[in-house]
Amino acid sequence: MTVLVLGATGRTGRLVVDGLKARGVQVRAASRSSPVRFDWDDPGTWGPVTKGVVAVYMVTPEDPGFRAELVGSFLERADGVRRIALLSGLSAGYGSVPMASREVPVRRSGVEWTILRPGAFQQNFVVPPQSGELRLPLGPQPRTAPVDVADIADVAVGVLTTEGHAGRIYGLSGPRALSYSEILEIVSRQSGRPAVYVDEPVERWLERMRADGVSKKALSWSLETFDAIRRGEYARLHDGVQQVLGRRPRDFADLVSSG
Ligand SMILES: NC(=O)c1ccc[n+]([C@@H]2O[C@H](COP(=O)([O-])OP(=O)(O)OC[C@H]3O[C@@H](n4cnc5c(N)ncnc54)[C@H](OP(=O)(O)O)[C@@H]3O)[C@@H](O)[C@H]2O)c1
Repeated sequence: MTVLVLGATGRTGRLVVDGLKARGVQVRAASRSSPVRFDWDDPGTWGPVTKGVVAVYMVTPEDPGFRAELVGSFLERADGVRRIALLSGLSAGYGSVPMASREVPVRRSGVEWTILRPGAFQQNFVVPPQSGELRLPLGPQPRTAPVDVADIADVAVGVLTTEGHAGRIYGLSGPRALSYSEILEIVSRQSGRPAVYVDEPVERWLERMRADGVSKKALSWSLETFDAIRRGEYARLHDGVQQVLGRRPRDFADLVSSG
């Protein structure tokens, strides 16, 4: 049994490759820069990577402009694939199109599918901002329950190598919600570099992003995400790690203190 891992050089993909290999599974690790080349924008690369493959860990690019129909076209050509674990995101749960639209072709594919919906990754927060200020228009006291990428990868490996996960959607969070100020306190203490959260007016934030050349699509997806953070969507706890692995997810403070 060969398992194809897309996004194999990325944060979760590389850990999924290691986790599968540790269980003796034959792995084909693919991405644009991997020796096994796979490019969502080059259908000529799709056939060779799926030859002899029975299961796929599917990662799509973070870019909100990614065309979700490519997922369907890819799956139509992936004849022998019987199982898929799709890395989606928490935003699909509140109907945000960039992530929700990628789930549709997977659910319609007719193969055993499982969808992983992590919230923000803990690894997004481990380095304190250079300026000492994290300026975002998230309200006075935003909270989030970020999840460790190693837990996401462990869940993916579990889903791909054990039974009972077909047709399941697993929300993935850390074990507790933290305010952005608490998160910055934790990383500041560890690094010795003080950092604080600043609730920036949205117009000021938009000006800065436009000056940095951020695309309209990316800006509107960010604003949608910010609204969701303000509503508390990212502070909710999800028990996917417990359900698949039978253990608690890793706490952000433990990740930071382990270096
Ligand atoms: N960051 C978060 O907090 C968060 C939260 C929830 C969900 N997500 C979702 O997680 C996914 C990203 O997963 P990740 O963090 O494990 O990966 P990542 O670290 O963002 O790396 C992206 C991976 O995809 C490959 N890739 C990028 N563009 C590609 C393309 N056009 N064709 C083929 N491969 C491509 C990259 O390798 P090459 O450059 O070699 O191609 C790399 O292996 C995104 O869908 C994102 O929306 C992220």
